[in-house]
Amino acid sequence: PDNASVTADGRLQIAGVDILELAREFGTPLFVHDEDHIRARCRQAREAFPDGVAYASKAFLCRAIAELAHEEGMHIDVASGGEMHLALQAGVPADRLVLHGNNKSTAELRYALEQRVHRVVVDSFDELDRIEALVAEGLPAPRVLLRITPGVKANTHEFIQTGQDDSKFGFGVRVGHADRAIERAAASPAIELVGLHAHVGSQVFEVGSFEKVAEVLAGIFARFQAKTGPNARMEELCIGGGLGVAYVEGEADCGIVEWGQAVRRACAAAGISAKITAEPGRSIIASSAITLYTVGTIKDIPGVRTYVSVDGGMSDNPRPVLYGSGYETFLPRATDADRPKTIRLVGKHCESGDLLVREGLVPADIRVGDIISTPVTGAYGYSLGSNYNKVPRPAVVFVKDGQARQVIRRETWDDLLRLDC
Ligand code: LLP
Repeated sequence: PDNASVTADGRLQIAGVDILELAREFGTPLFVHDEDHIRARCRQAREAFPDGVAYASKAFLCRAIAELAHEEGMHIDVASGGEMHLALQAGVPADRLVLHGNNKSTAELRYALEQRVHRVVVDSFDELDRIEALVAEGLPAPRVLLRITPGVKANTHEFIQTGQDDSKFGFGVRVGHADRAIERAAASPAIELVGLHAHVGSQVFEVGSFEKVAEVLAGIFARFQAKTGPNARMEELCIGGGLGVAYVEGEADCGIVEWGQAVRRACAAAGISAKITAEPGRSIIASSAITLYTVGTIKDIPGVRTYVSVDGGMSDNPRPVLYGSGYETFLPRATDADRPKTIRLVGKHCESGDLLVREGLVPADIRVGDIISTPVTGAYGYSLGSNYNKVPRPAVVFVKDGQARQVIRRETWDDLLRLDC
């Protein structure tokens, strides 16, 4: 986090709050977010995309983050009725919401149309049918971006590539779906077509991939801008999210501002005039947080490795299991320089694959009861987590100006029974 510092005796503080004291007060596993860090990233994003930028709430959503993103002037990208409901309940006005999804249900679409969300990003011909049927029932015509599959393959894990032709998302350019969808939407009185959208993938470091997508979108945009019908204004081009963040030493973030410049440069080069918008998630929230765990067991297999097991695992951060993602380990009681020992950090779940850090560095005197942290865990940890093995979800705290506030309480064992009939 931006506001992390280490005292002379090696104690980690974030925003002036002592991390070991936080662990004592709130227990572990615990997500700790540096609130000003998130606010700073929102401001950078708005500066990078002055025409509008949405926070992709799938990365991490709760009442507090919805309120914060809204306060910072972000729109909020919601990818389901549930995310939309949470954002609305948190007080975010519907006209600040952008609804996504490759298979939005009629109920989700009905909710979005009734509430009059800012944008519905339409993903398929079936969805166009569903919207037309809802509008025929008397609901207001939504403002729509069409999600285009640009045929650009981003250099990232296969599971989080989305821009390639062979994708479940969007209207493909090469197969002619994009043109057909635009023509149909532009002619439909049930749809107020306002522009195009594409999302190339997630955890993408090369700005070149985003530039390529912008070029493809801009080309289509220019062709159709000239000939849209009275109900269609081609005015917005949304480049999606996906900017990569550094998780481990040796990786370097590509700045949000640089990303915005590159995309705008590509659109300008294509000679189009459009509002250029984006919807970053990870680059807003990932590096604001660290997760704290308590070391429970240490098992040294001579000549093989040392396993350090903690009180969380794949239920609070499934990313290493799903994508082979790497993280670092730090002990909030020891300086960064004092990490000579290599260990494998694992969770408490009944799976050998329950791995948090394949090769983490720790102080030689690591012991049971130590608090250990994994930084850069603010995105797709809590939100992608589960209750596997009926392990309760961790608490989440925001720290700012020397104060901590709990924004999600720890789940209890009784909470785990709340849905049982
Ligand atoms: N817009 C759309 C349409 C998306 O599908 C996504 C992410 C975003 C924006 C935000 O992307 P971001 O800026 O956060 O990269 N669970 C995976 C990531 C899945 C991303 C899904 N879509 C992970 O943990 O790496």
